[in-house]
Amino acid sequence: MIKFENVSKAYDESKVVKNLSFNINKGEFCVLIGPSGCGKSTILKMINRLVEPTEGTITIEGKNVRDFKPEILRRRIGYVIQNIGLFPHLSVKENISVVPKLLKWDKNRIDERVSELMQLMGMQESLFLNKHPSELSGGQAQRIGVARALAADPDIVLMDEPFGALDPITKSGLQNEILRLQRKVQKTVVFVTHDIDEAVKLADRIAVMNEGRLVAYDRPESILNNKENEFIKKFVGFDRALKKLTRMYVEDFIKPYQSVKISDSSEFIKRKLESEIFVWVLDDNGNLKGWLNNDDSTDLAEHIESLIVKNIENFQVSPDCSLKDALSVMMSENVVTLPVVDNGRLIGEIRLSDIVGNEKNS
Ligand SMILES: Nc1ncnc2c1ncn2[C@@H]1O[C@H](COP(=O)(O)OP(=O)(O)OP(=O)(O)O)[C@@H](O)[C@H]1O
Ligand SMILES: [Mg+2]
Repeated sequence: MIKFENVSKAYDESKVVKNLSFNINKGEFCVLIGPSGCGKSTILKMINRLVEPTEGTITIEGKNVRDFKPEILRRRIGYVIQNIGLFPHLSVKENISVVPKLLKWDKNRIDERVSELMQLMGMQESLFLNKHPSELSGGQAQRIGVARALAADPDIVLMDEPFGALDPITKSGLQNEILRLQRKVQKTVVFVTHDIDEAVKLADRIAVMNEGRLVAYDRPESILNNKENEFIKKFVGFDRALKKLTRMYVEDFIKPYQSVKISDSSEFIKRKLESEIFVWVLDDNGNLKGWLNNDDSTDLAEHIESLIVKNIENFQVSPDCSLKDALSVMMSENVVTLPVVDNGRLIGEIRLSDIVGNEKNS
């Protein structure tokens, strides 16, 4: 989809991008990562011709970017500019609408799209649509920057550190949103970050850059497994094993479970508990209500209801939760098994031994 062939960029005498060749496939999420000044923003800007290469060619679907008019390119390619770059004199709504207006969408279609994007970004329309960028916090402005880039539903989206200014919770929420969106609509994304955790979480492929050169271009798992290259090793950090858990999901490690129903007789529940340390408790629809511990079984006949451990919202995980998040829940709740719940229904459990002992993580 986007192909770099021997691309270099020099300012005066100094080359800031050096002989870069790589290929981003259609629908792929490519993350460019590397230290400050290594050329990441320059690479993005060469794709939409904000910067022209000194040597080499860049093609989009086989066509040299030089053969596209810059304005056509910029309408077709969403771009989240580093340091936000909203138009200061335009309101939030006008900022988001820039490209749809250039594409002459009718007013209703633009209004609908703006609403949709505000919802996606978790921002209340009534509070923000008429504000100007100077009245927004850094994180809010960043979200509007992302909304603006996605507005006309472009096939290619370039994002230059779009989540840099966000607090960890908002950041993680938006990353999950982007992942969910990406599974659904499969855009070709080139995403720049300094943050290796962000790269590992989001990327189909990671391009590691250093001083204008491509050091490696590979799947996150392979980058994390690279023990030969000193630069990559240093960049990944000593917690590579933990980072790999970000790329593994609970659904691949689900185990069968033991359960009883609230409506089961106490005799049945007691018998069941004789051979288990605990059992999950379900209602008649299969929804998870809590669990019963084995050591309570002697008192069971009188008060099953009161022995059920309830309030388990914090304990449960969904099938698409990463092993890293599951591990984090286990540690914060001090348990070694978690119920895996999909739309309220118990579908299995995940155990600490499956996370720590899994061979993919060795
Ligand atoms: N217009 C310009 N004129 C001269 N030098 C430039 C220009 N734009 C960028 N550079 C230089 O090119 C190099 C690469 O810059 P670039 O913005 O691509 O880095 P980056 O990897 O995006 O860094 P950061 O992570 O800090 O955003 C830097 O050394 C920068 O100083
Ligand atoms: Mg940059």
